[in-house]
Amino acid sequence: MKLWPTKLRLRLPRRSEPRRLFGRYADLVPPTEMMFDGPVGYDLFKENGEEFLEHYVKLGGLEPDERMLDLGSGIGRKTLPLVSYLSRSGSYEAWIS
Ligand SMILES: C[S@@+](CC[C@H](N)C(=O)[O-])C[C@H]1O[C@@H](n2cnc3c(N)ncnc32)[C@H](O)[C@@H]1O
Repeated sequence: MKLWPTKLRLRLPRRSEPRRLFGRYADLVPPTEMMFDGPVGYDLFKENGEEFLEHYVKLGGLEPDERMLDLGSGIGRKTLPLVSYLSRSGSYEAWIS
């Protein structure tokens, strides 16, 4: 017995994973088919961004009220943790080629 149409059944995990991992930012995360410039997968996308935020803060001393210019941001792998970290008086701008 078929409970759901095949297409719907295949789509559900892909739609729910970004929501689980990124919450209100989920719609800003590209689908895995568009992750062309680094590791592919939602977990990896999130881990990579968080790892680099730690570098910016611990090694670079980035403060929440500072301004970040991201030249060559690609698909925004570093973007979501950064905008979550930065305060309203800080800012993030990206240059996308
Ligand atoms: C190795 S990827 C890194 C992407 C992203 N910063 C990250 O960490 O996931 C380098 C990115 O820089 C972009 N890029 C390379 N040359 C550029 C240029 N002259 N102007 C703007 N972007 C450039 C590429 O398109 C690519 O998306």
